[in-house]
Amino acid sequence: MDTRPIGVFDSGIGGLTVVKEIMRILPYEDIVYFGDTARVPYGSKSQETITKFAKQNSRFLLSKDVKAIVIACNTASALALEELNNEFDIPILGVVKPGASAAVRATKTGRIGIIGTEGTVNSRAYEKMIRKLFKEVEINALPCPLFVPLVEEGWAEKEVSYMIAKEYLEPFKEFDVDTLVLGCTHYPILTNVIGKIMGDGVTLINPAEETAIELKSILFENGLQNTSKERLNTAIM
Ligand code: DGL
Repeated sequence: MDTRPIGVFDSGIGGLTVVKEIMRILPYEDIVYFGDTARVPYGSKSQETITKFAKQNSRFLLSKDVKAIVIACNTASALALEELNNEFDIPILGVVKPGASAAVRATKTGRIGIIGTEGTVNSRAYEKMIRKLFKEVEINALPCPLFVPLVEEGWAEKEVSYMIAKEYLEPFKEFDVDTLVLGCTHYPILTNVIGKIMGDGVTLINPAEETAIELKSILFENGLQNTSKERLNTAIM
């Protein structure tokens, strides 16, 4: 039993899509959330910079006495997870592996699409992880960098979001994917828009739920879960 909070970070508000799932699946865990809005976006920055930011964010969360860290950012998960695990000795997990597993489970045709930041797409982290799980898969990946500022601005429901999403995704439809990974934690906030363009035949994968499930088993395996059932969780942001 461990009542210390879980640390979660992202470049901005996108990681709250992961916090929502953690709060649902682990209702007795407290959460400290760090959204690095001063340095958003992460998606266009180098691996060196992202690794530096991810280490600083992790140190900040450790100063809040967290027992585990969730990198609720695909870019930082793709570019810095290994380094963080080498440097810190608490459990640290990212969103790429859980997202890849969920996509492999969901696809029926073996045609998977990935949308994410430039950093995530160029790293090919999803592709490598998906191919480890499913060799015969066809993968197409597309960076959609304008989605992050739209979400940070609170414009997800505006016409401009639909127009930009159509510009990115309409040509992408020719790949005929049946599963599309929302490989950036900001993108689930645009689910309605993305779903409308891709159509009903495409399953949208939000890696957040699978990440929360993986976190739950990691806490359990390490005896870190908060078993006090006296109150529901609080999140400090
Ligand atoms: N939400 C983050 C991700 O999942 C970062 C987006 C950004 O800052 O570019 O990649």
